[in-house]
Amino acid sequence: MDYDRYDRVRAVQWRGDHLRLLDQRLLPQEERWIECRDASAVTQAIKDLAVRGAPAIGIAAAWGVALAAQQCGSLDAALAQLRAARPTAVNLMWALDRMKARIAAGADAQTLEREAQAIQDEDLAANRHMGSLGAALIAPGSGVLTHCNTGSLATAGFGTALGVIRAGVAQGRIARVFAGETRPWQQGARLTMYELVRDGIPAQLIADSAASHLMKSGAVQWVIVGADRIAANGDTANKIGTYQLAIAAKHHGVKFMVAAPSSTVDMATASGEHIEIELRDPAELLAVGGRRVVVEGAEAWNPVFDVTPSDLIDAIVTERGVIERPTEAAMRAMFGA
Ligand code: MRU
Repeated sequence: MDYDRYDRVRAVQWRGDHLRLLDQRLLPQEERWIECRDASAVTQAIKDLAVRGAPAIGIAAAWGVALAAQQCGSLDAALAQLRAARPTAVNLMWALDRMKARIAAGADAQTLEREAQAIQDEDLAANRHMGSLGAALIAPGSGVLTHCNTGSLATAGFGTALGVIRAGVAQGRIARVFAGETRPWQQGARLTMYELVRDGIPAQLIADSAASHLMKSGAVQWVIVGADRIAANGDTANKIGTYQLAIAAKHHGVKFMVAAPSSTVDMATASGEHIEIELRDPAELLAVGGRRVVVEGAEAWNPVFDVTPSDLIDAIVTERGVIERPTEAAMRAMFGA
């Protein structure tokens, strides 16, 4: 696999005394970088979605703790504010728990910096491995539909679902790629299409509401998505709209794959009903591209994740292996207690 050919964006960059983030609110129109010099700045960048995607926010948070340690700030305060930045993606809590364990063992600032780097490096390696595991499930000549952005922008690099798609395209297994625009924040339209165009991978954007019609046409054989939290029974929280894609996929005989690193698996959460779903500002729905399009006085409900029950999932792909038709027993066998 020619990784340089297919994976060239690095949105989270450690610079020794600050964290550089590619501001994902402005893409693709503008490639502007933010410099975070303390844990509060990293927390704000996560809240504002300047950095987003489950693995990427975990990695950024780890660097936020490293910054607090460098500045001899309160590590407890840094851990607490970063943990509260967003509720759904468990990678955030997972990365902070790793940093916390190092702190409890008496780590100095340099050791914490090494731990953050390890979290970032391991994510890239996991994504590359998942890419080949997931691609192997796809028959040559297939069409795929993805949702949200799960690529290099959302991770340390290569991506989860988008990593599977990159590997599948490189191997000639994937002949057609469709990306849903992902209202309201348009991660699919703004970010996934940006990555695919940069890679030279032919892809077509669809309105979210075109997904069932696309599946009925026979053009896609797999829906491939990432995850923000996978519960112990395989129920999967991911970007709002994922659940309806899984229902439509089942109806049309299209297979449904979740690709995520093991840092997204939360064996302490029994099932999807216990996953907190982030509610964001209704203003995100009432406007398009920052311009209000809905009549003044109108209200909106803006949950930004939903839960796909495990019985709608054909395969969960992590760097530890593939679980087909996930059950709690299969999850426990792969991920332990
Ligand atoms: O709100 P976002 O953009 O952080 O949501 C991102 C997603 O839902 C992704 O699908 C998920 O984090 C997987 S990213 C590899």
